[in-house]
Amino acid sequence: MKRTKKEHYKIAWLPGDGIGIEVLEAAKIVLDKVNLPAEYIHGDIGWDYWCKEGDAFPERTINLLKNVDAAMFGAITSKPVKAAEEELAPELKGKGLIYRSPIVRMRQLFDLYICLRPTKAYPGNPLNFRNDIDIVVYRENTEDLYSGVEFNTVPDELAETLSKLSKPFDKFKNLKSNDYAISCKINTRKGTEKIIRAAFEFAKANNRKKVTVVHKANVVRATDGIFLEIGKEIAKEYPNIILDDANIDAMTMWLLKNPYNYDVLVAPNLYGDIISDLCAQMVGGLGFGCSGNIGEDLAVFEPTHGSAPKYFGQYKVNPIATILAAKMMLDWLGEDERAAKIEKATAEVIKEGKVRTYDMGGDDKTLDIAKAIADKI
Ligand code: NAI
Ligand code: MG
Repeated sequence: MKRTKKEHYKIAWLPGDGIGIEVLEAAKIVLDKVNLPAEYIHGDIGWDYWCKEGDAFPERTINLLKNVDAAMFGAITSKPVKAAEEELAPELKGKGLIYRSPIVRMRQLFDLYICLRPTKAYPGNPLNFRNDIDIVVYRENTEDLYSGVEFNTVPDELAETLSKLSKPFDKFKNLKSNDYAISCKINTRKGTEKIIRAAFEFAKANNRKKVTVVHKANVVRATDGIFLEIGKEIAKEYPNIILDDANIDAMTMWLLKNPYNYDVLVAPNLYGDIISDLCAQMVGGLGFGCSGNIGEDLAVFEPTHGSAPKYFGQYKVNPIATILAAKMMLDWLGEDERAAKIEKATAEVIKEGKVRTYDMGGDDKTLDIAKAIADKI
């Protein structure tokens, strides 16, 4: 998984839209301070490219990602399919182009099957829900309800097949094709094994005590059934790590009630998405949520927040999520010392509380935070 250090890195730099541009500028200040021997190569991605070229994730950016060690990604603006079509350049309209989220495409195209979201309450952060929270979420990143197999209007062949194969489908079988929609939740044994093993390997390598498998296997028996079953199988290979499991609904309640009971969480895509936002909020919200999309050959690091158009141009949002994402990138590259320097400096700035963006109750600007962190390195 983790890389070994290199003399020189190629990093794709994908600011995207809105505040994505501002927070990446901040992260660069900090990366420069640790002197990472890297070449940062800009990649076009985002809304402008959809409007001008009909593709928010152009082929040239895909090719760039094939030739780098890692990537930093800011954020992108996404709009529903109809609204997206309206903003296309006139010559591209009516050509049947369909807007698809670049980040979801990137995850699937490069098999970035792990979405890693550490959530740590740094001491002194006034936004912490409780002190000492330290939970790591492993979210499956390419399958499940996000597989993209969806039918807005249900084709007759599909309805006929489902009528033959599924008793519970009886109650839908007389509906007109456009009176219902189907989104498929597809979970493969291979994909499930990969994410669960990654979570256990992380726990083993980092002296974590417990892995909690999040599911809803009592109701969603087929797909979540597989997830839980494979969790139990793989856990046998790690006798020193406690296996725990919880239904997604109960999990949200227990996390709030007793976050200290949790250590590493592993979940299918949708539940992982939900639970990682909950965890992020417990340690300060979107300004602190960092994320890695990790595969065998490529990893893309990003803040979990979006492009926040209402703040774009003001340089007032919190860059800490992105700076911590850069720290995760260094960890993944095997640059442990540089990563540790960034984390230590960030923790110090949070603890001192002298420089804070609006979300933390201050009025300092995005780049002021980055400079304060860089000054401590
Ligand atoms: P958002 O995450 O962009 O912002 C929501 C609100 O959270 C902001 O208005 C702001 O109050 C706060 N916030 C976000 N980042 C912050 C930061 N670094 N520091 C302090 N406060 C922060 O979500 P929203 O407004 O729902 O979506 C805006 C656009 O971003 C949409 O087009 C959406 O599709 C897209 N989006 C993109 C994502 C990505 O690129 N991975 C993820 C989520 C949304
Ligand atoms: Mg999310």
